[in-house]
Amino acid sequence: MINDKKVLFSGMQATGNLTLGNYLGALKNWVNICDEYECFYSVVDLHSITVRQDPAELRKRARQLLTLYIAAGLDPKKNCIYYQSHVSGHAELAWILNCFTYMGELNRMTQFKDKSAKHADNINAGLFTYPVLMAADILLYQADVVPVGKDQLQHLELTRDLAQRFNGVYGDVFTVPEPYLGKVGAKIMSLQEPTKKMSKSDENSNASVYLMDDTDTIMRKFKRAVTDSEGCVRYSEEQPGIRNLIDIYSACTGKTPQDIEKEFEGRGYGDFKMAVGESVVAVLKPLQERFEELSKDKAYIDEVIKENGEKANYYATKTLRKVQKKVGFPERIR
Ligand code: TYM
Repeated sequence: MINDKKVLFSGMQATGNLTLGNYLGALKNWVNICDEYECFYSVVDLHSITVRQDPAELRKRARQLLTLYIAAGLDPKKNCIYYQSHVSGHAELAWILNCFTYMGELNRMTQFKDKSAKHADNINAGLFTYPVLMAADILLYQADVVPVGKDQLQHLELTRDLAQRFNGVYGDVFTVPEPYLGKVGAKIMSLQEPTKKMSKSDENSNASVYLMDDTDTIMRKFKRAVTDSEGCVRYSEEQPGIRNLIDIYSACTGKTPQDIEKEFEGRGYGDFKMAVGESVVAVLKPLQERFEELSKDKAYIDEVIKENGEKANYYATKTLRKVQKKVGFPERIR
């Protein structure tokens, strides 16, 4: 608890262009629930270098992502929005937790398997221990709740196991976090292959809607979205393309899938796709405008980075010192 509130932690990688999946699966929920919690939202740049990055590009994207958090509606006076690399406690706790994690556990991680298949020429140890760093992120702030999309649930399960394992040896050191999934949008699928997750790294740019896409591009991508030959807007497992579009429309408008089925009863896919595209534009346009405006205010963003980095460091160090003492590191002489 911080200031009598439960603690929330989440983060995003500053690699590639953020997609509608990142927004509907994570960022949008962050904004919806942030008032109930003491929140930490990190731009997780340490995670990004498990895959080769261009340094200037990474720096630029990290700043854009931090600005986007604010543009989406997270007030940096109330929410701690910061760069992971500015808080050394993440890496320090990750090392300690590495020593409590079994190779077998990491071998089972599906994201590791996927990423090592994709980057076969660079299967580095960081990629392998990535979930431990993620556990450190969360446990460092004693987070009660972690809002994420479905693809992160396996990592969160490992985080819970590590917290319980550590607590089992040393007493109640870590809060055991719970995942938080939004009711809709927890897994947005590709517009071209709707049985696959919408992803930043998809080679087909029509498969993903990017947060910075302009109106024409968004509408075009929805027009081209892959559907089926049923000709009926129905929320069913057998129609993954339509189901995904219903999820997107539902997340953007707040309407339930049942309402949406009724709204489009007897109408063609063309109409439906247009409506989905328009609902996405209505959500992204204000976000893009606010982002452009904020990006111009260098001094303001710099201040957020500095103040929130210090705040994050304060809470991170508190947990880290406790953990260091528990495992037997010598006390600091002041
Ligand atoms: P990342 O950067 O891949 O994704 C950020 C968030 O977006 C969600 N997401 C999706 N949700 C729905 N549909 C999709 N198609 C979709 N694609 C992505 C992800 O689930 C995530 O919530 N390892 C994490 C970052 C991280 C983190 C953490 C998250 C590092 N430390 C601690 C929570 C807590 C990642 O790579 O997310």
